[in-house]
Amino acid sequence: MTQRPYHIETMISAKAIAARIEDLAKEIRQAYRDTDKIVVVGLLRGSFVFIADLVRELEMNVEVDFLEASSYGSGTESSREVKILKDLRGPIEGRDVLVVEDIVDTGHTLSAVLKLLQSRNPRKLETIALLDKPARREVDLKATWTGFEIPDAFVVGYGIDFAQANRNLPFIGSVVFDDEVPEAGGKA
Ligand code: IMP
Repeated sequence: MTQRPYHIETMISAKAIAARIEDLAKEIRQAYRDTDKIVVVGLLRGSFVFIADLVRELEMNVEVDFLEASSYGSGTESSREVKILKDLRGPIEGRDVLVVEDIVDTGHTLSAVLKLLQSRNPRKLETIALLDKPARREVDLKATWTGFEIPDAFVVGYGIDFAQANRNLPFIGSVVFDDEVPEAGGKA
């Protein structure tokens, strides 16, 4: 399949992401201050860069585990059915868990993952999402902590892909298809 030509416009700089993570880490440390160790669960693959930066700011005892739920395949439309493709390696019963998600879009993925993890009886189950697109929500849910609320745009970078490309960009950018760019001087 040939890819429609597109370019990427910076939405959130690497510097702004780093500053926000510092603040979020402080809030998380405070919320888990009575805990010896937390289990940080990254949702693959989009959260891998975020979780790496976040755990290094946490300055507390953490275990890291990963879970992979199905997402968009190679398109940009969210599929409604969420499948667990890779489960956690360790148990979470009675433990303090923090789920790390890249983006909450329709909310189906996080909602399904939380339902699954809750059924394993953790002591505490909180969530952090780097990005939130509230305009597209279909499930009533909000992460405990959110890095940035963004408009309804398809974004890439900082771990997030478009058809498996652009995960390694150090910033968050929006995908702009070249055949959809409004003409200069056109009506707004
Ligand atoms: P939800 O189930 O619709 O909330 O979708 C969540 C997942 O869809 C995220 O974890 C991402 O993997 C993916 N996703 C949502 N929006 C975007 C986007 O703008 N770019 C790339 N992936 C996205």
